[in-house]
Amino acid sequence: MNVTADGLRFPDGFLWGASTAAHQIEGNNVNSDWWHMEHEAGTTIAEPSGDAADSYHRWREDMDLLAQLGFTDYRFSIEWARIEPAPGHFSTAEIAHYRRMVDGAIARGLRPMVTLHHFTVPRWFAEGGGWSADGAADLFERYVRATAPIIGTGVRHVCTINEPNMIAVAGAVRKLGAEAPPALGTPLPDKATTDALIQAHHRARVAVKAISADIQVGWSIANQVYQALPGAEAATAAYAHPREDIFIEAARDDDWIGVQSYTRTRIGPDGPIPAPDGVERTLIGWEFYPQAVGHALRHTAEIIGDVPLIVTENGIATDDDTRRIDYTTGALREVAAALEDGLDIHGYLHWSALDNYEWGSYKPTFGLIAVDPDTFERTPKPSAAWLGDLGRTRVLPRAV
Ligand code: BGC
Repeated sequence: MNVTADGLRFPDGFLWGASTAAHQIEGNNVNSDWWHMEHEAGTTIAEPSGDAADSYHRWREDMDLLAQLGFTDYRFSIEWARIEPAPGHFSTAEIAHYRRMVDGAIARGLRPMVTLHHFTVPRWFAEGGGWSADGAADLFERYVRATAPIIGTGVRHVCTINEPNMIAVAGAVRKLGAEAPPALGTPLPDKATTDALIQAHHRARVAVKAISADIQVGWSIANQVYQALPGAEAATAAYAHPREDIFIEAARDDDWIGVQSYTRTRIGPDGPIPAPDGVERTLIGWEFYPQAVGHALRHTAEIIGDVPLIVTENGIATDDDTRRIDYTTGALREVAAALEDGLDIHGYLHWSALDNYEWGSYKPTFGLIAVDPDTFERTPKPSAAWLGDLGRTRVLPRAV
């Protein structure tokens, strides 16, 4: 971290970009478990993903915009349900589609970070018992090997699995069904799912390295920023371990770890407590708390030691774009402070490039770029120009 007369300069090579996930932007992901759940009789999902932002066809526009705005990195996911629509059947055409995306990013000066699995799985995988079924890690490893033509050249960073801790929580909620606990805090992740995901990640790491030893492999963890109230330190540590730390520990031999944070969760002696009265809340109900990413980075570094950190998601659901700029300014100050304290942080990828399907609803808008739901026309918001400009200068002005 360089301190200049103008402000704080991010290190050379620092990743500066935005993130997306296939199911949330592509549209018509019809072979996935999520598509099926969205259309099941009696579903509790408020609205289906439908055409999403039609990025399956419009990825070139998305990448053009990001590159023009000043970003140098783009994290996107490839869709297992498209690549392997039936067990053991791999689609050459879909593999070619994602390879075109990798080439398209590179041609525009965007370094692709490719996520292999971002929440959605093929419907056949879910119906076979999903992550808690025997052999789940074998099936994932087979899929990862099949992605060689996509990631084999030109891809520097591969994220094996996005937020395994949230996948394990979803596994527990599914098993509990109607007995699922109320929303406050995070349900206890399913143990079988946790173990399978860690195994799948380790197997995928080996498989990716066999595809190319140059690829830097990691995974990204949802960091809930558990903050202990006075006297609740031990309770907080016990609460955090199965929900977060166990997944961070599993990345100790990785090339990097993805830190994803949005808000905080305060923990008292009896568990999570609500956000303080009167705090500003985002469109998703979370406390407006830009400091979260600083805590998340420091907590992750404490557990993982020397493994480089990348902020792979951070952002805010709001329809007031000035608050997005305020939030992100606060978050970047936290990243800068952590860099100054010597943390080895290699990048910041904002969530999200586009307004997208927020797992059941289009209402919480996280995007730097607005998308018209009927015409799919993209309109960058002021925050996109602002964050892209910072990407050009790499200098965060001092707080005044
Ligand atoms: C996920 C994204 C999601 C975002 C905001 C993360 O948990 O990786 O898919 O849209 O947070 O909720």
